Order: sequence, then structure tokens, then C-alpha cells
Amino acid sequence: MTKTLGRTKEQTQALKVVVVGCGRMARAWIETALAMKNVALVGLVDLHRAAAETRAAEFKLPMSMVFDSLAEAVKQTGAKMVFDVTIPAAHAAVTLEALGLGCHVIGEKPLSDNMVDAKKMVAAAKRNGLTYAVMQNRRYIAEIRALSRLLRSGKIGDVQEVHSDFFLEPHFGGFRDEMAFPLLIDMAIHSLDQARLIADADPVSVYCHSFNPAHSWYKGDASAQCIFEMKSRAGQPLVYNYRGSWCAGGMNTSWQCDWRVICSKGTAMWDGEQSLRVQKKKPAKNQAFVKDFHEVAVPVKAMKHQAHDGLIRAAVAAIAKGEVPETVCTDNIKSLAMVLGAIESAKTGKKVKIRV
Ligand SMILES: NC(=O)c1ccc[n+]([C@@H]2O[C@H](COP(=O)([O-])OP(=O)(O)OC[C@H]3O[C@@H](n4cnc5c(N)ncnc54)[C@H](O)[C@@H]3O)[C@@H](O)[C@H]2O)c1
Repeated sequence: MTKTLGRTKEQTQALKVVVVGCGRMARAWIETALAMKNVALVGLVDLHRAAAETRAAEFKLPMSMVFDSLAEAVKQTGAKMVFDVTIPAAHAAVTLEALGLGCHVIGEKPLSDNMVDAKKMVAAAKRNGLTYAVMQNRRYIAEIRALSRLLRSGKIGDVQEVHSDFFLEPHFGGFRDEMAFPLLIDMAIHSLDQARLIADADPVSVYCHSFNPAHSWYKGDASAQCIFEMKSRAGQPLVYNYRGSWCAGGMNTSWQCDWRVICSKGTAMWDGEQSLRVQKKKPAKNQAFVKDFHEVAVPVKAMKHQAHDGLIRAAVAAIAKGEVPETVCTDNIKSLAMVLGAIESAKTGKKVKIRV
């Protein structure tokens, strides 16, 4: 390794990155940025300077890395990439500014909290010839990849129904307690995006009943149940059923949901953690009242980098090679459309067609 002024050659040539939004979630982004050889973290920005200074102190970074605005940070450092870790309502302003300053963006989910801004962000990335990719860390888990591979192999036939349950009771405080539809906007975006990966399908329509249980401390609806009609990339129709609550104490599911996928030749179940089981129908000569099944082994390939770490590394590598990251905004906007379609259905009480 060649050393230049105390820095390795890789670090000197690394992609310069500014993190905007230095709250709780920024820790994971900073950790990965500091661990990557091909990335140089050069700036920290927050509406509240103290938040950026707190992160700088926590990671033993020089206070000279804290800037009062993104424009100043990019001007002074020559950064070419922004990690947008602000709150959902700020994603549009920060991402549009970053793209306008000539920076690629990898930003926290959800892409935006409304479709008008989302389309502006997608258009701005295209217009500037830059990449904007969205954090969907729950795709970067060894078991969901194994499940997705198994289903795509056709071993248990075509996906017909997908069901997922999400029941937790986190007390965050802050913006989630105040926002309308906190479960759908801030959390279900993960599950609905996971459903697209698992079923290899895109949304067609949604009916959603969203509500706020009497014991909820959230201002907006903390619970929802949605039925999505979807179409697989192979053109097969399927149904995805989402049930979720952010004020469900006890018997909790994992943050990745508890999944059941019913296919034409069998069923797959994943608890969102390490338990992944698949059963396939045994061929029977005569029609049996209840068929016999056998277990199908699902090989899980270990992933060195998972969740935030996995997605950030994969997206940076794709952008560096001029390739398209998996969660590029032009694709991720379909997951956002599922969330926003569900909200529209909840408001109108009607089934809503999902168009992007
Ligand atoms: N992917 C995940 O698993 C996951 C988990 C938690 C949070 N998140 C997402 O991460 C984002 C941040 O969440 P958090 O929990 O860190 O919130 P937070 O409130 O702890 O931090 C957000 C920070 O952004 C700053 N900010 C807001 N608007 C800004 C602006 N215009 N310019 C600069 N700074 C601004 C705030 O001052 C605050 O310090 C949200 O989009 C949230 O949905 C993702």
C-alpha cells in the first residue's frame, strides 16, 4: 500500500462522502463509511450543528469535518456523494440539493413521503446523470436472499399468495410519534419492498384499512392491514397480505416480519430471522384428501456484509462501476407507490390502483 501524507493511496483516491442528518440512524452509515477503503468520509451536516458535533465526537473525528450546510461541505471538500440520513419530510430537499451539487445520493427510506416529490427526485437524478439509491437494508439479509433464490428457481412452483405479519411495540419518541401514518410511511415501506423482492413482483392495486388502537401513543395510525394484488415479472397474478402494528406488545415478530409464501407446489415460511422452512407436495398417484409433503433444504449463503453495511457497500460499488444499484430510485419508487396507495385507500375506504 502506497502512503501519501499519512493516508493510504486507496484513501486518497476514495470517493468523498458527506453525511447529512446526524441523528440516531447516522451511526450505522458513519460506521460503514469509516470502514470502507474506497470511501472517505469528509463532512457531517445537520440542521442542528450540535447533532453533527456529537457524532464527530463519538467517532473521534475532527470538528473541521462539521459544516453548517451541505453546499458549504461540498464546496470545501469536493465531495461526490451524499448519504441522506435526515427525517422522511426532509429527504426531497436534501436529495434535490445534493443532486444539484453534482453528488450521487444514497438515502434513507422512504424515498419520500409523497409521490410529487418522489417523481421530482427521480427526474433530477436522471437529468443530472447521477444515481440516487434508497436504503432498504432488510433486503440485505442472507435468509431473504436464500428464500428469494429458492422461489425464483421454481422448485415449489409459482408464487400465488404472500402473507407477512409485523407486530412490535417500539417507543421511539421524536418524528414518528407525530407523523400521520407512522407504520405505513416509516416501517411498512420495508415490508412492502421485501414482498417485491420475495415474490419478484410489482404492485397492481391495494385495499387498506389503517387505524390507531385505543392504547396507541402515536398521533397517526399505528396499525394497518392491506391486501395487494401484484403481478410477477413472469406475468403471474398473486396476492400479498400485510398485517402490521407498531403498538402490539408481546409475542412480537421480528423487524423483518414473519412470512408465509404459498406456491403451486408447496409453501415457504421465514420468521424474519434464521428459521427458513420449505415444504413441497409429494407426487401422489391418486387425489388425496390431505397431501403428503417433504421438507426442502434451503441453502443459505453467509453474507459478509448485511443490512446497512451490505447495501451501502453494494450501492457504492455499483455506482463506482457505472452500474445500477438494486434499490435505485427508478425501481424503489414502486415500493413507495405501494405505501402511498395503501394510505390513499385507507383515506378513501376504496381499493386503489397503483400506478407509478
Ligand atoms: N433503514 C432503517 O432500518 C431505519 C431505521 C431507523 C431510521 N431510519 C430512517 O433514517 C432516517 C433518520 O432517522 P433517525 O431515527 O436517525 O431520526 P433522528 O430524528 O434521530 O435524526 C434525524 C436527523 O436529521 C436532522 N435533519 C432533519 N432535517 C434536516 C435537514 N433538512 N438538513 C439536515 N439535517 C436534517 C435532524 O436534525 C436530526 O438530527 C429516517 O428517514 C428514518 O426513516 C431507517
